[in-house]
Amino acid sequence: MKIFTTREALQKHLLLTRAANKTIGLVPTMGALHQGHLSLIKQAKDHDDEIVCTIFVNPTQFNDPKDLEKYPRTIEADIQMLEQANCDVLFNPDEKEMYDGNEQWHLDIGQLENLLEGKFRPGHYQGVTQIVYKLFTLVKPDTAFFGQKDYQQCLVISKMVELLKIPVKLIMCPIKREPDGLAMSSRNIHLTPDNHHHALILSTTLNWVKSNFDHGKITTLKKTAESMISNEPGIELEYFEIVDGDTLLPAVEDSKKIVALVAARAGKTRLIDNVILSPKS
Ligand code: PAF
Repeated sequence: MKIFTTREALQKHLLLTRAANKTIGLVPTMGALHQGHLSLIKQAKDHDDEIVCTIFVNPTQFNDPKDLEKYPRTIEADIQMLEQANCDVLFNPDEKEMYDGNEQWHLDIGQLENLLEGKFRPGHYQGVTQIVYKLFTLVKPDTAFFGQKDYQQCLVISKMVELLKIPVKLIMCPIKREPDGLAMSSRNIHLTPDNHHHALILSTTLNWVKSNFDHGKITTLKKTAESMISNEPGIELEYFEIVDGDTLLPAVEDSKKIVALVAARAGKTRLIDNVILSPKS
């Protein structure tokens, strides 16, 4: 695997890739890689000729400086995992390489900005779109792969691609789970065994809602799900919503795609998870 830390070196390399008529698949990450990330790499490898994984803990998407500081950084282990997954290129820049001064960024993403994650993490999606736009312009990928676990992020990025007419195909990859059901996340590193045990209520509740899903029962399902999670010791629920999968507004009976999304704290660790209840027909 080739490792680049400067944009210039990466761009030089990608000129050769394109000259060889190879397609480029981009897997943007913040590192602390796990099987969920590796499944994105695998899907990317099945789809494109050359895979570029980026590892950059993007400061502009953290609204809490303490959260940024304690975000796990495990670059040596990440490199080993990427090598084993046969990733072709790793781009691992430092902050100066990606942000060279007082830049301004604002993208009007409409109501996606303030709903769900946007409400609990103000400014988060401005930071996400800012860095993903930089990566798209730098790498010019044919395809970019994002995990369904950050469902709202997938919608936000697809809105950006539409607004700015960026020529990239987006692929949302399924959530990877631990054998006990916990959605894989870089933040799981911070969970104590006790936190982990209680956090299982998130996937248990989502599965329960999925198995009992009926368009006519949305309000009752949401209420029951909220109390299942709130009654779990050590878990602080932020939101549990059953929403229209395109708008993230509360689902209505004729919403085509319906998604249940949850955010909660297990001890000090903030976790998110979701399940698609009714895919578009
Ligand atoms: O999903 C993530 O890890 C990040 O939000 C992303 C897309 C790499 C942007 O920093």
